[in-house]
Amino acid sequence: MYLGLDLGTSGVKALLIDHSQAIAGQATSPLEVERPHPGWSEQNPADWIRAAELAIAALKATHGRELAAVRGIGLSGHMHGATLLGAGDTVLRPCILWNDTRSFGEAAALDADPRFRAITGNIVFPGFTAPKLAWVRANEPKIFEAVRKVLLPKDYLRLWLTGEHISEMSDSAGTSWLDTGQRRWSSELLAATHLDESHMPSLVEGTESGGTLRGDLAARWGLGGHVVVAGGAGDNAASAVGMGTVRPGAAFVSLGTSGVLFAANASYLPNPASAVHTFCHALPDTWHQMGVILSATDSLNWLVGITGKDAGSLTDELGDTPTGPGSVIFLPYLSGERTPHNDAAIRGAFAGLGHESGRAALTQAILEGVAFALRDNLEALRAAGTELSRVTAIGGGSRSRYWLRTIANVLGVEVDVPADGDFGAAFGAARLGLIAAENADPLAVCTPPATAATLSPDASLSSAYSDAHARFRALYPAIKGAQS
Ligand code: XUL
Repeated sequence: MYLGLDLGTSGVKALLIDHSQAIAGQATSPLEVERPHPGWSEQNPADWIRAAELAIAALKATHGRELAAVRGIGLSGHMHGATLLGAGDTVLRPCILWNDTRSFGEAAALDADPRFRAITGNIVFPGFTAPKLAWVRANEPKIFEAVRKVLLPKDYLRLWLTGEHISEMSDSAGTSWLDTGQRRWSSELLAATHLDESHMPSLVEGTESGGTLRGDLAARWGLGGHVVVAGGAGDNAASAVGMGTVRPGAAFVSLGTSGVLFAANASYLPNPASAVHTFCHALPDTWHQMGVILSATDSLNWLVGITGKDAGSLTDELGDTPTGPGSVIFLPYLSGERTPHNDAAIRGAFAGLGHESGRAALTQAILEGVAFALRDNLEALRAAGTELSRVTAIGGGSRSRYWLRTIANVLGVEVDVPADGDFGAAFGAARLGLIAAENADPLAVCTPPATAATLSPDASLSSAYSDAHARFRALYPAIKGAQS
C-alpha cells in the first residue's frame, strides 16, 4: 500500500492505493483560509498537521489493515507558500499562501533584476515565495531576522513526518530561488533576497526518497518500520503525475480554486515574457509549462456565497450543453491575475448587465469568464512554444458538463473526461510514494486514465465564442484604467 497526502488550500486529503494502483481508501479534513486584509491569504501550519492527523485517523478507522501495509508516502501541496521557521523549527508567523498578493511591490522590484527571469525562467509573481520574504524583511524585520528555514507547505508536513528539511524540484521551481534548468538552488538569487542556501531545504527529485517516517508516527498509525516518504510534488505536478500527464504534448486543464492549463515538456523551454510558468516536473529531468488563473471554482464559489445556492444547483440551471455565449461578461480577477496579465491589483467585473440578467445569466458569465481566461492561457502557452490539441479535465469544476463544453468551444480543443476515479494530486502523490518505495519505473507507473467521454468544440459556435473572447480581452485594459 502507498499513501498520498495532498495539502490542498481547502483541505487535506489522504488516499491509499495498492500495488496495482487501485484506490483502497480515502479521507479528507477541511481547512480554512484567513484573509485578515484585502489581498492577504494565510493559513496556520499547525492546522495542516491537525487536518492531516484527522484525515489519517479517519483512514485508520475505516481502513486500518490497509494503512498498516503502507510502504511509501507521497506528498503534494499548494505551491509557493512561505512557511517561516526559526530556531528549533518554531513557526514564526502564519504561512503566506500562493494567492496572497501583498508582495506585489517586492515582486516587481525582484522581477526588474534580470537575473531572476534568466535563472528561474519565470516572472517573479507576487504569489511566489521570494517576494514574500522581501515583504517580511521590509514589514516584519524581527521575524525576518529570526528565519532559519523557509519551507514550502507540503515540506512542512514532511518535517513533521520525517524530522527532515527536504524539498523537491517541482515545488521549489515556484519559489523564484531555483535555477530551473540546472535543478539546484541559486545562491545568487538567494543572496539578492538576503538569504543563503542554509535557509533552504536540501533537494531531491519527486520520485526519490525524501526521508523516512518517524517511528512514533508509524507506531501511532500502526505502520511498520522504514516507510519511505517520497520527494513528492507541488499540487499541479502531482496532479499531472496522477493524470499521466508526463509525456511531451500531454496536457490537462484543472478547475480547482485556481485554474491551470498544464503541459508536459521534454526539455526546459522558458518564456517568461508570456507570463507562462516553466517549472521542473516531478519526474527526473523533465519540465512542464502552465498558465495559471487565480480564481476558477473560486469565482463560482463567490456567486455561491452571494446567492446562497450551491455550485451544483447553479450550474444545473444551465443544463448540459451551451448554445452560445451570453451577453453578460465576467472578468474572474477576484484575487488579481497571473497568466497572462501578471496584475495583482486588478479586480473582477461584470459587464453587459440588463434588467433581464438573472442568476443563470451570471452563472453562465462566470463559467465563460473562466473559460476565456483559460483561452488567454492557451495563447500564452502557444507563444511559449507549446501547441495543444486536447486536454484532460480535472478538478471540482469538471463535474459540470456545461462548463467543460464551454471550455472546448472557447479553447477550440477536445476536452477528455477521465473515466470515473480520482486522479488528482493525492493520487499522483501516492504514485510518487510507490515509485520511491519500490524503485519503480516512473513512466510505467504514470499512465493516463481511461477516457469516459470526449467533448469536441461545436464548430458552428466557434466564431461567436471568438467574438465574445475578443470582447472579454478588450475589457481588461478598460477595467484597469477605471479602477481605483
Ligand atoms: C500554481 C499555483 C496554484 C496553487 C494552488 O502556480 O499557484 O495552482 O498551487 O494550489
